[in-house]
Amino acid sequence: MKVSASFLSSRDIGIDLKKLNFTDVDYIHVDYMDGKFVSSKSLSFRKLKKIYKYTSKRLDVHLMAVDVLPLIRKFASLNTEFITFHVELGKDIEAGLKLIHSYGLKAGLAIKPGTDISVLAPYLDFLDMILVMSVEPGKGGQSFLSFMEARLMDLKIFLLERGKGDIIVSVDGGINEGTIHQVKEVVDVVVSGSYITESRNFQERIDILRGGLENHEKGY
Ligand code: DX5
Ligand code: ZN
Repeated sequence: MKVSASFLSSRDIGIDLKKLNFTDVDYIHVDYMDGKFVSSKSLSFRKLKKIYKYTSKRLDVHLMAVDVLPLIRKFASLNTEFITFHVELGKDIEAGLKLIHSYGLKAGLAIKPGTDISVLAPYLDFLDMILVMSVEPGKGGQSFLSFMEARLMDLKIFLLERGKGDIIVSVDGGINEGTIHQVKEVVDVVVSGSYITESRNFQERIDILRGGLENHEKGY
C-alpha cells in the first residue's frame, strides 16, 4: 500500500511540501479546486506549478473542476504520475482519460460518496486508477464516512467481475490511524492530508498508516 500526502493547496504551498520532501511518502496529492465543481477554490495553477521548488516527489493530481481538458494539459507539464478527475462531470470523460494517456501519465476517475459505482463501467478500459472519495470533496479534515468499508469491497468485486482487478484503487478523505484499518486490505493507495500535516512528525504518521513504526527515527 502506498501513501499519497495531501497538502493544503489553498495556502502557502511551501510549508508542508518542504517537510514532506524529507519523508519517504510515495506521492504528493495535489487537490485542485475551481470554485465551481466544489465551492472551495485552491491556489491557481500559476501558483501551484511552483511546487517543483519544494518537492521532487511524483504528483498525484486530483482535479475537482469542471473544465478539465485545459487543466490536464497544464498539470501534465509537472512531475506528474497520476491525473484524476470526477466521473460526475458526465462530459469529456473518455477524451480526458485519453489526453492524460497521450502524455504518458496514468489516468484516474474520482467518484463522490453518493455516486453509484456502475457509472464507472463504460470507462474501465481507459482507467489506471479509481479514486474513491470517503468524504464529500471540497475540504480536508472531514470525518471518514463509515459506509466506505463496504463500498470499497463492492468496488473491488465490481472490478474483479469485469476482469479489471489490476486497476489501482485509492481512497481519499478522513484517513488516519483510526480509519486506516477499514481500508488497508482493499486499497492500493491511501490519500491522507490533515492526519499527516497537522502532526509535528510527518514520517511517524506515514509509518503508522503503512502499519509500522520501524522508520520512526528518520525524523520528519
Ligand atoms: C477533499 C480532498 C482530500 C483532502 C484529504 O476534497 O480531495 O484530498 O484534502 O484531507 P484529509 O486527509 O484531511 O481528509
Ligand atoms: Zn483529493
